[in-house]
Amino acid sequence: MSGNFSFSFSGDDIEDEGELNSAAPNASESVQPQPSASAFPVAGKPLLPATSHDLHHMLAQLPSKVAYGILDIDLDGSGDIQLARRELWDVRVQLMAEDNGGETEPGLGNHDVKTGVYEGGFKSWESSVDLVKVLSPSKDFLADETVIPTIIELGCGTALPSLALFQWSLSRRTPQKNSTLSIVLADYNPTVLQLVTLPNFILCWALHQRRELPLLEDAFSEGELDLTPDVIGAFEEFLSAQKISLSFFSGAWSTEFIDLVSSRKIPTTGNGAKQHTIILGAETIYSPFALGSFTQTIFSFMKQEREQGNAAEALVGAKKLYFGVGGSLDDFVARARELGANVEELREEAEGVRRGVVRCSLP
Ligand SMILES: C[S@@+](CC[C@H](N)C(=O)[O-])C[C@H]1O[C@@H](n2cnc3c(N)ncnc32)[C@H](O)[C@@H]1O
Repeated sequence: MSGNFSFSFSGDDIEDEGELNSAAPNASESVQPQPSASAFPVAGKPLLPATSHDLHHMLAQLPSKVAYGILDIDLDGSGDIQLARRELWDVRVQLMAEDNGGETEPGLGNHDVKTGVYEGGFKSWESSVDLVKVLSPSKDFLADETVIPTIIELGCGTALPSLALFQWSLSRRTPQKNSTLSIVLADYNPTVLQLVTLPNFILCWALHQRRELPLLEDAFSEGELDLTPDVIGAFEEFLSAQKISLSFFSGAWSTEFIDLVSSRKIPTTGNGAKQHTIILGAETIYSPFALGSFTQTIFSFMKQEREQGNAAEALVGAKKLYFGVGGSLDDFVARARELGANVEELREEAEGVRRGVVRCSLP
């Protein structure tokens, strides 16, 4: 994205009070960024390097408690899903308590994006909700014993699509029968992964398991979850018992990033089950630069999977046009087709800011 600008809302994201009006989302209803002269990448400013983050280490850096709100997403008349997200004010409080200055942490002030510094991941964007809706009808693949699923969410931020898949998997999978579910979460900013992405997964698990584990019931109080060592330990044990792997990567999309993500330990194939990789990206193509590097990255992943005989597809949600900054879903579709992909339009939102979701795969 170009320069530092605000998308007509500051501090809050797609909803203010835990409610999302899916018919007329208010987040970037009037996306009118005022680009400055600079563009990402900022000249002379190196991009953040690709970095892998150890889950155990990240868990050890969590605060003693997190405050959360619930986002209720209507699944187009076929039920709904409630996703827990860490409150942004709670992130600010943590940073101030740690004397890092919540006000100075990029992304927690008034900017939705700060070029080359913070790329928007603290807040939830509308297309991430669209992706949840698109994923919902096929969620039963999570229970399919013939599939080894890998989810890679690029530019995940609060990670609503991956969170929804994780939540659905909790009530569908039987670890005795199912193979490992691998969820890869990537954001430009490591702070986003540490401060919101990981806490959101813990909240999702804890709310789902609170009736099963008395220690969790005790850890909840009005809108807050205590992250005691026992709670953290139970989370890690649960993931391992359920054969769910969470991996975290930060840094700019690049060859190094692709190599790093590809070199992670991949669960072994068993019982004739087939690897199926779903790459997710919501609001990741909002500038010509982002569009180029994002497209290159998903194509590299899809090609790698194809070479290994695995199934792979990318689901991309974005606005039809990012005013003033370039980048659009149509540009992405054109680029992907030029590169030989099959592109299918899965969803279109005509109300509010026009946006859509497409599926992209290699023939
Ligand atoms: C507008 S946010 C969208 C966040 C989230 N997907 C959502 O929809 O709520 C854009 C995301 O893309 C990521 N991103 C943008 N440009 C990137 C780049 N060049 N390399 C890696 N990540 C990038 C940012 O980290 C950020 O999380």
